[in-house]
Amino acid sequence: MTSKAREGKDPPTSLGTSMEPDMTQKMPSSAPASMPKDIDETLNALQAQHYLADRRLATALFLALQLGKPLLLEGEPGTGKTEIAKVLAAWLGKPLIRLQCYDGMDLSQAAYEWDHARQLLEIRMAESTGRQGEMQVHDLYDPRFLLRRPLLQAIEAKDQAPILLIDELDRTDEAFEAYLLELLSDFQMSIPELGTISAKHPPLVILTSNRTRELHDAVKRRCLYQWVDFPDAQREAAIVARKVPAIPAALRTELVALVQALRGLDLFKKPGVAETIDFARALQVLAAQSLSIEMVMQLLGVLLKVQDDIALASEALPSLLAD
Ligand SMILES: Nc1ncnc2c1ncn2[C@@H]1O[C@H](COP(=O)(O)OP(=O)(O)OP(=O)(O)O)[C@@H](O)[C@H]1O
Ligand SMILES: [Mg+2]
Repeated sequence: MTSKAREGKDPPTSLGTSMEPDMTQKMPSSAPASMPKDIDETLNALQAQHYLADRRLATALFLALQLGKPLLLEGEPGTGKTEIAKVLAAWLGKPLIRLQCYDGMDLSQAAYEWDHARQLLEIRMAESTGRQGEMQVHDLYDPRFLLRRPLLQAIEAKDQAPILLIDELDRTDEAFEAYLLELLSDFQMSIPELGTISAKHPPLVILTSNRTRELHDAVKRRCLYQWVDFPDAQREAAIVARKVPAIPAALRTELVALVQALRGLDLFKKPGVAETIDFARALQVLAAQSLSIEMVMQLLGVLLKVQDDIALASEALPSLLAD
């Protein structure tokens, strides 16, 4: 597939296929952008959407766009893995189709399902009009009786290539990963009763994993891979400045330094960028001008969600804030 196949020149659709209705509202009103020419353009376009990527992530994304390969993002929770698919859809003016994976998810929820109720109705209608003799089995396995779930929606996109977000793939099982292989390498899907459906506009696929288990090599081989780490203090402060612009610069530096120091502790779950942004918003609501131990103690639940972590952080706070 050429990068031309992915050119974002068509206007965004109203997205009857989206599993994320809110996203259509977040789409920019400006004309859809075309594919970036280089890594700098990718970085700038992400920044224009208030997403501050490091150069490695921008490089991986640029290459995924150019090569038409799925991009697998693994990393710490709350570091912007899901967000990048949303930002990409908004930037390129493309529909976002999201498959949120979960334990026990099967094909009927991820790909397609036959609408048995409508098939039965069709049989009854044939009986009532005396046509049952003419009816063939394949009449019942017709595309109009298919319930299209996100993967099939992405393959069948009619007007332009959508962004397909397969979020938290590590929550599913290996059987589901195996099912994805055909889609990831050939952008096609086999439906036994119908045959193979190939994408006219291959989707740009972003997969994410929190690495609760190792994904299969076969999936990884079909993707470009990028580990998404916590940002350094400078980038995290810049993210906070974008997302919570109202808080004073000095407070921003202080709160980011605290979050970065907390990540250095031996915590069960380190705070992600999402928690940093929540913390900044909480400080804004409380009209804080600087961080005191008492205030941070009361707000630790915004940053840490495990009681043992809160206990450990409470002990360490005096030295962390003194540094
Ligand atoms: N580099 C970044 N630039 C701007 N915002 C960011 C960045 N990284 C994270 N965020 C913000 O942090 C929040 C969490 O991001 P997101 O939900 O994408 O994280 P995640 O890695 O998917 O987390 P999880 O693994 O828990 O699903 C979002 O509100 C997002 O805007
Ligand atoms: Mg996520």
